[in-house]
Amino acid sequence: MAKIKIGVIGTGSISVEHIESYLKNDNVELYAFCDLNEERLKFMAEKYNVKHTFTDMNEMLKLGEIDAVSVCTWNSAHAPCTIAALNAGKHVLCEKPMSVSEEDAKAMKAAAEKNGKLLMIGFVRRYGNDCKILKEFINSDYFGDLYYAKATYLRRKGNPGGWFGDKSRSGAAL
Ligand SMILES: NC(=O)c1ccc[n+]([C@@H]2O[C@H](COP(=O)([O-])OP(=O)(O)OC[C@H]3O[C@@H](n4cnc5c(N)ncnc54)[C@H](O)[C@@H]3O)[C@@H](O)[C@H]2O)c1
Repeated sequence: MAKIKIGVIGTGSISVEHIESYLKNDNVELYAFCDLNEERLKFMAEKYNVKHTFTDMNEMLKLGEIDAVSVCTWNSAHAPCTIAALNAGKHVLCEKPMSVSEEDAKAMKAAAEKNGKLLMIGFVRRYGNDCKILKEFINSDYFGDLYYAKATYLRRKGNPGGWFGDKSRSGAAL
């Protein structure tokens, strides 16, 4: 079987989790990297020995040999990058949150359906032991009929700054 060739858009912190996982999979070839930040791009390409590098995702997406793309950009770029990749005929694994608006999320889903490609959002918490245990309780009817759910998450390290604190890129109100 030919290896699945992967392009990564956004080579910041979380991309390392995608990249390291791809490297553990013998069916996958890490093929191309794209980032607006040239310094970061160069560092990551050298570290992971990736030869095809781009600062414009549209240029990377022209590579017909790429089968699938990880979208690891800040939140506001999830929809444009994902839709462009799907329209270019690639499968997409996009980081969470899916998008910064419901409208964008619907457009992403529509692009996947139109192009017959897979779109997965990296909702990693769903695979965590805490969620699995909770789901077992739900499935065993421990809670009875659920009519209200409230979730909170405590981050002890404070506000990470950068784009996380910039509403135009994070999409969140501070
Ligand atoms: N799954 C998780 O547990 C988890 C954890 C942390 C972050 N995330 C998500 O991952 C995403 C990235 O977070 P991060 O901490 O890696 O951010 P980061 O700032 O370290 O990296 C983002 C990178 O994307 C690049 N970028 C932005 N727009 C681009 C575009 N159009 N084309 C090419 N490159 C572009 C930036 O230059 C930057 O290098 C966010 O959506 C965040 O919510 C998920």
